[in-house]
Amino acid sequence: MTYAAIIGIGSYLPERRLTNADLECMVDTSDEWILSRTGIAERRIAAEGEATSDMAARAGTVAIQDAGVEPGKVDLLIVATSTPDMLMPSAAALAQAKMGLTCPAMDINAACTGFIYALQLAASTIESGRARTVLVIGADTLSSIVDFTDRTTCVLFGDGAGAVVLRASKDPGVLGVHLGADGTGADMLMVPAGGSAAPLTPERMAAREQFMVMNGNEVFKFAVRRIPQVTKQALRESHLGVEDVDWLVPHQANQRIIDTIADRLGISHDHVVSTIRDTGNTSSASIPLAIDALYTAGRLRPGQTLALVGFGAGLTWGAAIVRWTKEEDV
Ligand code: ACO
Repeated sequence: MTYAAIIGIGSYLPERRLTNADLECMVDTSDEWILSRTGIAERRIAAEGEATSDMAARAGTVAIQDAGVEPGKVDLLIVATSTPDMLMPSAAALAQAKMGLTCPAMDINAACTGFIYALQLAASTIESGRARTVLVIGADTLSSIVDFTDRTTCVLFGDGAGAVVLRASKDPGVLGVHLGADGTGADMLMVPAGGSAAPLTPERMAAREQFMVMNGNEVFKFAVRRIPQVTKQALRESHLGVEDVDWLVPHQANQRIIDTIADRLGISHDHVVSTIRDTGNTSSASIPLAIDALYTAGRLRPGQTLALVGFGAGLTWGAAIVRWTKEEDV
């Protein structure tokens, strides 16, 4: 049996910081409200002209170097994003050129669950023998679809990219993945205009329909109900239990959601990775950014088991159980 294992990791955050104090000058909000309701203190915002493929290429390049893989040996590039540079070509095609790769390249859009969806596709492609080395990048420029006059959403999101290189291995790395989707919940979180259903017009732009709208309370309830279920399902399919999880790496949407998920799973908060204070919700990038934070802090050891869990627009959700096999100095 051929398995897929993570052999390289990298991340990129834009330089510009948008703090809660900055947001206090933009909308009717307060540092106290944002911190207590979300756990977010600041988020990064892409520079003028910096697009999703730029951030993806920066994170991807670091991951390839970390893996010690020749760029010509990458067989497939998957970029998980819901904020591509443009409707076409894909952010993956643009990032492929920026990284000097020559392999097939494609985007996956599963909103904030995108990284888990991409990991499933990458692992399956390797396990089937159709590829040996796959680069998976989660990258989003949420600031391009956030309405900075809407205090109910603009305090939550940030920009960034995280990447992993997966390679065929005789030892199990990706142990199991369980995905889900329910399109009847599409209206809970969407960008109404700019697609084929409602192309951009001056009227739609005047109504600010090019920006994200969200029913925050419903998304909150969906996440804390669905994520413990899918995590247990993925663990069962990996022949493991909650007690085997060394690190729970949840999508970073809200600290209260992260805490509730951990409590419902019975996982101590010491075993939960949280980066939300400094990054906000970076959508597809949040899970690989969180793994990289754990890795660069020297807290991730070979043999440890990670439960990566995500949820987002669609609605979509997913959990991946991963055995960390990478040594610190590969
Ligand atoms: N500053 C100050 N007050 C605010 C702000 C703000 N930024 N935003 C909302 N409020 C007010 C509301 O207007 C409301 O006032 P009212 O009581 O006078 O009506 C009050 O605060 C409470 O609002 P709620 O929406 O009930 O606040 P809640 O505690 O539920 O927190 C939040 C809102 C943070 C959005 C929460 O519901 C949440 O995190 N939901 C999940 C969102 C999420 O995860 N989205 C991303 C999914 S991933 C993806 O695919 C992109």
